[in-house]
Amino acid sequence: QPHQPLAGVKMMITAGPTREALDPVRYLSNHSSGKMGYAIAASAAQMGAEVTLVSGPVALQAPTGVQLLRVESAAEMHHAVMTTAVQQDIFVACAAVADYRPEAVADCKIKKDNSEMSIRLVRNPDILADVAALNSGPFTVGFAAETHDVETYAIGKLQRKGLDMIAANDVSDSSIGFNSDDNALTLYWADGKTELPATSKQQLAAQLLEQINHRYRIKQ
Ligand code: PMT
Repeated sequence: QPHQPLAGVKMMITAGPTREALDPVRYLSNHSSGKMGYAIAASAAQMGAEVTLVSGPVALQAPTGVQLLRVESAAEMHHAVMTTAVQQDIFVACAAVADYRPEAVADCKIKKDNSEMSIRLVRNPDILADVAALNSGPFTVGFAAETHDVETYAIGKLQRKGLDMIAANDVSDSSIGFNSDDNALTLYWADGKTELPATSKQQLAAQLLEQINHRYRIKQ
């Protein structure tokens, strides 16, 4: 039996992209593969946590010992998360959730009648901010995917959303971040920061969870 520092801890993790439907055959989405979030879920389960993984559409198998809830859109992910979020001890938001969705979903396939068309988008609910705002909710960890001014935006998200920790990744570097097998993270919390240098998403997940567990215990 491996060392189980997260035994008895309930952890919910979001992973993958969301798909925002335009019509029955089209959607808006992004390049998230789910690899980072699934690696965190697998590692948390190995460390003894009771893991619920809420995942957008990805091509990955459910990690061993993890309860997997599959969703498509940001609205579905929001619903799946909020149903049990208050019962969790730790929430990690690794999903690349679409910030906007088409205002209306066409019932039938949209036809190319005009030389131009525009699509009106409306804001999606912010899942991470809603979990962080719960009364006696879980210890919340957000991700920040940035292409520039990584530290400024990450600390802004930490403070504005009222998070316990944020993991920033620089997605302008294609060898790390979206869809690659490796990543690098900088973790920020209210009064500290630490760098987790580039390595496999599996290794990084274990290192991230060690840091989360440490800060979570301090907060208890
Ligand atoms: O899936 P991979 O290919 O392995 O790639 C991993 C990753 C790059 C997707 C991952 O490491 C990562 O950075 N995930 C967060 C991506 C993102 O959407 O970041 P953001 O800066 O736009 O969002 C900030 C935070 O708010 C994130 O924790 C996000 O999950 C959360 N959020 C955002 C919008 C929204 N409506 N609801 C949310 O919960």
